[in-house]
Amino acid sequence: MGKEYPPLLQFLSDKLEYRLLSGKSTLGYVLYYIDLSSWRLRLSDWTPVVHVQRSDLLNSSPRQLLQSLQDVVRERGWQRRIVLVLVDGDSSALRLALRSPLQTLAFVGDEEQRGILRSRRPSGELLDILSAQVPISILAPYNTTSPVTGSCFFDREYEVAKILGNPDVSYAVLGVRRIGKTSLMREVERRLREESAAAETEDSPHILFLDCSDLLEREMLVEQIVRKLNPRELPRLAMQNYSFFFPDFLERMRRKYKSKLIFLLDEIDDLIVLHGGDWEFFRTLRAASNKGICQYIVAGFREAQNQLHNLDSPFYNFAEEIRLSEFTREHARELIVTPMQNLGIRFKNESDTVGRIYEETAGHPNLIQFYCTILVRQLELTGQRELSPDSLVSVYADEVFKNHLLRSFMDNTQNREKAVVYAILQDHAERPMVGFTQADMDAALRKHNLVVAHGALNTSCDVLVLAGILRPKGAEYFFTSPVFVRVLQQTYNLRYLLDKVKEEGI
Ligand SMILES: Nc1ncnc2c1ncn2[C@@H]1O[C@H](COP(=O)(O)OP(=O)(O)OP(=O)(O)O)[C@@H](O)[C@H]1O
Ligand SMILES: [Mg+2]
Repeated sequence: MGKEYPPLLQFLSDKLEYRLLSGKSTLGYVLYYIDLSSWRLRLSDWTPVVHVQRSDLLNSSPRQLLQSLQDVVRERGWQRRIVLVLVDGDSSALRLALRSPLQTLAFVGDEEQRGILRSRRPSGELLDILSAQVPISILAPYNTTSPVTGSCFFDREYEVAKILGNPDVSYAVLGVRRIGKTSLMREVERRLREESAAAETEDSPHILFLDCSDLLEREMLVEQIVRKLNPRELPRLAMQNYSFFFPDFLERMRRKYKSKLIFLLDEIDDLIVLHGGDWEFFRTLRAASNKGICQYIVAGFREAQNQLHNLDSPFYNFAEEIRLSEFTREHARELIVTPMQNLGIRFKNESDTVGRIYEETAGHPNLIQFYCTILVRQLELTGQRELSPDSLVSVYADEVFKNHLLRSFMDNTQNREKAVVYAILQDHAERPMVGFTQADMDAALRKHNLVVAHGALNTSCDVLVLAGILRPKGAEYFFTSPVFVRVLQQTYNLRYLLDKVKEEGI
């Protein structure tokens, strides 16, 4: 056994317990993977390392070597990843040859390797070498547009542990748009696969992630499940009646994989609406869970929530609810401060800066990510490496941010809820942050000839609270985010919006 690693990697693995794996060789280079996810940057638990040996340096010019390394990146499909290149010699010529603004290769020459080995803060030293070469906007883990996992996934430890720790319980992950449902499901999926790979080295086909918004017909969904579990049975599915075939199929697959089938079904809302009333398919799924064949983790918002509490629905009591809410202040701090500090950014007044961001985003992870993205971009442009509460001003002026705020509001609410917000904001135009009761909402709506029944108003308030737009306190409600109110008031003519909503019907 006793595999030989280059000294730096050996040291990182033995002394500092970074997880390390050998990869295949490609184009004559030995490859490794190192787990740098603990840095909370865009460096995964699977960060590639290419070893450039002394003989490689002797036999080719820096330009040729670079071309060769770029081919390794192509061949391995690493275009979107940051790649560490260990060079057993002087790396400065290579750095010079690589002058691309979208640079994702980071060189560590022999001088630097020795420096790290001698250092009293070796991890910090390696991090410094990386962040001097890769732009901070690429190294930063912030992401506002797609689900996040691994080193970019924050908080939600409790939820992840609960799902992973109870394989006999199905879960429904509920929460408003962009609160982090898909991210949670993807992170659970990632950890399940990791566990399963550690146990048997298979690529765990019994774990299925399906985005139901692409699979709205039952036939398509069933077909996709069969395709993922055992594509050879697709012809049988086409020939047999699905209600005989499918339950039996699931049972057989459980035996085949010697493991419970785990279905992660994202975006279940539309599927429920489409099948409303015709529950046969969901009954089949439920029966499979009762027999211990499957575990389900589903994610949705309105409809999923309704069905869980609807006595006539097969969803009733079927899954335990996990409701995702905004980050706590401590978790927001973790998301803001840890990556920034690892990027070498100092906080002039950390507690005030974090406090301001927290207040203005109401702890919504996606909005916090927006703040951080804009701040990182700002720092990159100016070359500064310090943040203070004053830095936040640039965020309010950002068009993308404004649009984003408004879009999440539009996505999370239906017309009646929008009407409540527009009417109250017109009534309270001068002092939008003071509290108001349901009676105030009713009065504000009536000024526009809108009469909403008590029950309906109550439901609207619940949704607005769930959507993180209002916060209840006793009998009063408050807007959670001053920034949201300001942006809404400054961007739109609220009277016009209200008329539009009325026209469409509430
Ligand atoms: N655990 C998390 N850590 C850090 N950021 C997060 C986390 N969860 C969500 N976010 C932020 O929120 C954004 C939206 O996350 P995600 O797509 O998982 O939400 P969603 O609830 O599935 O949204 P949708 O309702 O649109 O499907 C991410 O791009 C990221 O900016
Ligand atoms: Mg989602």
